[in-house]
Amino acid sequence: MSNSTGSSPEVAAISLSRQGKPESLDSPPVPRNRSISSARQSILYVTSEMSDYVKAGGLGEVSAALPRALRQHYDVRVLIPGYRELLSRIGTVEVVGRLPGMFGVPACDLGRTRTRDGLTIYVILCPELYNREGTPYGDARGIDWADNDIRFARLGMAAADLAMGAGDPTWQADLLHLNDWPSGLAAAYLQWRGVPIPSILTIHNLAYQGLFDRTRLPHLGIPEAAFQVEGVEFYGKLSFLKAGIFYASHITTVSSTYANEITKPEYGCGLDGLLRARADQGHLEGIINGIDESWDPSTDPYLASPFTPDDWTGKRVNADTVRKTFGLAVSRGPLFAVVSRLVHQKGVDLAISAAEAIVSQGGQVAVTGRGEMRFERALEALARRHPGSVGVRIGYDETDARRMYAGSDFLLMPSRFEPCGLSQMYAQKFGSLPIAHRTGGLADTIEDGVTGFLFGEMSLHAFLDAIRRGVDTFKSRSRLSNMRRAAMSRPKGWSHSANKYRDVYGRAWQAVA
Ligand code: ADP
Ligand code: GLC
Repeated sequence: MSNSTGSSPEVAAISLSRQGKPESLDSPPVPRNRSISSARQSILYVTSEMSDYVKAGGLGEVSAALPRALRQHYDVRVLIPGYRELLSRIGTVEVVGRLPGMFGVPACDLGRTRTRDGLTIYVILCPELYNREGTPYGDARGIDWADNDIRFARLGMAAADLAMGAGDPTWQADLLHLNDWPSGLAAAYLQWRGVPIPSILTIHNLAYQGLFDRTRLPHLGIPEAAFQVEGVEFYGKLSFLKAGIFYASHITTVSSTYANEITKPEYGCGLDGLLRARADQGHLEGIINGIDESWDPSTDPYLASPFTPDDWTGKRVNADTVRKTFGLAVSRGPLFAVVSRLVHQKGVDLAISAAEAIVSQGGQVAVTGRGEMRFERALEALARRHPGSVGVRIGYDETDARRMYAGSDFLLMPSRFEPCGLSQMYAQKFGSLPIAHRTGGLADTIEDGVTGFLFGEMSLHAFLDAIRRGVDTFKSRSRLSNMRRAAMSRPKGWSHSANKYRDVYGRAWQAVA
């Protein structure tokens, strides 16, 4: 994602009176009379990624899985920008409405399609904003699009329009479920229009905030009056994420530990004051992600060979395949994997230092990922220094990733912070023991010495100590098998998390009833 920001000292205690209707939101759509019966409420799930079509990380996977898990309870529909890649995968889209342009945000068509399994997807058809080669957030070199404020204000505005029944004449939403900074403004637009539809904001990563210059306010339809601490201002800048945190009815994040961490200055990225205030009101909580059913080593078609906890033969076949693919020598020693975005958050620097120690003791390391150039280069240099022991493939490849989880003995995940983390759960499910920093969702999903290994202090020394404990376990076949079996049984599907979201939705509706 884009628009990360450093932490700032503090956002002082903030009172949460969220009034202040704008003078400037001239002629937004008028809400239609709600004719919806309360029998089956409608939810609009607003996201900038969905792995059916386009994804940059875990958000895409959650956005594909959670709406599906909620479908049996609600009429859930997804709203997403019509990126070039997405449209090429969808083919034809039915145009169901036209959304007006406002301020600097261009008018656009609203398209509607369905996934093969029948989930309704609304697509914002605005070629001037989305018909580009690159990721949802930037070009192929990873440089953010300069007009990301307009691109994602368009998303937020479309969400508010659609919720009010101004997009699709046959549908309107009873609740908006927003995700991360790209959809943060939707909660604010609803508030400024005086529309009493609750909005839930899920924070998948607080470090990406959508920060823009204050001169952009009039282009985005943001009233000057909202540019203050009790509004969208973040240390002199406009913050989309802060807008979401401030104006949404309820905030969730993707693990209990991270929900607690982000109320502290060390992890709060300057928003801890506001988050503390929202937590004190009972409006912030952690709901751990699940993993979807495709993560099953006995049936996964991507694997070189399926396997079950009763027979590790198939796991060995995957290990051999990974060794071959990554140019590693034939070996009976432990195989460590890294499957990660290559960014500071993920502790790639620590993984590189640890790899040196691992190979010096006869272990092997396979790495796949893409991200910051400096890490990509450093990993390639590491592989050149250790031919046959370290293999690196820069890129994003589902087959590689799944085979690595299946074939490796350990997954290295020394994340500095980790809101939830899906990789460690995939690894567990495929019998690879995660070795990870005790933070966020890693702390909540890994039981130290039972389903993986955790280290407390973010230091090479502590990481190597956890790796040493892993290697000791590797030497005992029975201990290794027991831990693998425990790990494989642990990750949960989505129904558990979906039920927790249902509780949150219920409370949000109660509050406006
Ligand atoms: P984040 O969203 O912060 O990147 P997560 O652990 O929640 O972290 O999700 C990352 C997802 O992206 C996992 O499904 C992981 O397997 C996948 N992934 C990351 N890098 C690659 C890669 N190079 N190739 C394939 N999958 C990858
Ligand atoms: C973010 C976080 C990751 C989380 C994912 C899905 O990308 O970095 O920890 O698992 O979102 O919620």
